[in-house]
Parts: sequence; C-alpha cells; structure tokens
Amino acid sequence: MVPDQQWIVEANQAERSEIRDELRQIGRMMWEDLDPLNSRFWVCRDGVRRIAWVGLEMDGAKALLRSLYTAPQHRKLGIGRRLVQTAEDQAAALGANEVYLFSTGAGGFFQSLGYVEVPVSEAVAALRHTPQVLWYLARPDLLSAEVTFCKVVGPNRPLQPTRAAPSNGQWEPAGSGPRG
Ligand SMILES: CC(C)(COP(=O)(O)OP(=O)(O)OC[C@H]1O[C@@H](n2cnc3c(N)ncnc32)[C@H](O)[C@@H]1OP(=O)(O)O)[C@@H](O)C(=O)NCCC(=O)NCCS
Repeated sequence: MVPDQQWIVEANQAERSEIRDELRQIGRMMWEDLDPLNSRFWVCRDGVRRIAWVGLEMDGAKALLRSLYTAPQHRKLGIGRRLVQTAEDQAAALGANEVYLFSTGAGGFFQSLGYVEVPVSEAVAALRHTPQVLWYLARPDLLSAEVTFCKVVGPNRPLQPTRAAPSNGQWEPAGSGPRG
C-alpha cells in the first residue's frame, strides 16, 4: 500500500535537469542522452522529496518509456508499477499505440506488467528519432548488448477478460449469479 502523502506529478524542465544529474550520480543508468528540453518525466513525491520517476519520449505513434527509478528505501511499495501505468496512460493520450523500452536488468519487472521482449532492431526502427535511440545508434557495441520490450497501449490493446471464464467455457446468463 502506498502511503497517502505520495503523489505523482509531471516534472518541469528544471526538474528534468536535476533528474539527469541524479541519474549520472546513481550510475548504471543512462543519463548522457537525456535531453531536458525534449523529454517528459513524471515524478513521485513523498511530501516534498522526489523519490521516484519515469520518463517518456514520443516518436509518432510509438513511445519510449525510459529511466524508471525508485529510490532503494521506497522500493516494493508499488511505486514503480504506478509510474509505468502513468507513462502508459500518458503515451496513449499522446497518440501512442505501443510503448517500448530498453532494459538489461529489469526485464522480469516489465514482463510482469505485460511487456514482451522484441528484437532490438524492431525497437530501434520504431523509435529512430528519439534521443535515446540516436545515442545508441552512434554506439553499436552498446546497442548490441541491449534487450528491448514492447507493450500495446493504444486502441489496438488486446481485450482483457474482466472475470475468469468458467471451467466449462459457458458463461451464465446475466443476472443469474451472485451480484456485488
Ligand atoms: C525496477 C524498479 C523501478 C521497481 O521499482 P519499485 O517501486 O520497487 O516497483 P514496484 O514496487 O511497483 O514493484 C516491485 C516488484 O518488482 C520486482 N522487481 C524489481 N526489480 C526487478 C527486476 N530487476 N527484475 C524482476 N523483478 C523486479 C520486485 O521484486 C517486486 O516484486 P513483488 O511485488 O513481487 O515483491 C526499481 O527496482 C529500480 O529503481 N531499480 C533500479 C533501476 C532500474 O532497473 N530501472 C529500470 C530501468 S528501465
């Protein structure tokens, strides 16, 4: 359960610059390609402190989710999942059909949220105008070590069942079962 004093807001340009600096200090996370002018970030605050964030870069009807990070002492509280959902909602609202991401270390986390691994070449083709992919294209050795994932978030999103199908495969007529 996330405490009530935590909320998610969009970062302004000054805060995107701060996040870039923090990513550099954290290490093992990409920061060099982060352009505070051409990216959007949503941050989770605990009171006044910034404790987590996620970035989004758009390329037409494709979106890149990037730089997801939760401060270690705030992990496993559902903040990362909420930020991914925020980025997906924003991407869909901005006209994206698919959200892609690069992740060598947190693939299992994203797979648990419906992302599927796709060839790096697919992600690069989809996002070829984003700062992160342009940065990688100049460094093919780093790109070849990457792992990429994708999730459909737009109008082509697969329908999810709202309840489990009965074991005999037959749905009961509406109103025949318990309500509430
Ligand atoms: C990945 C990360 C953002 C998750 O943040 P979080 O706020 O703890 O996320 P949530 O609380 O919503 O979900 C936590 C769940 O994800 C799982 N998880 C976290 N990192 C994982 C990983 N690398 N692989 C698989 N599962 C992972 C946790 O075990 C936990 O599982 P549980 O709910 O069964 O206990 C955070 O661990 C982090 O900042 N990691 C370092 C940066 C990073 O790898 N970012 C992704 C780069 S694209």
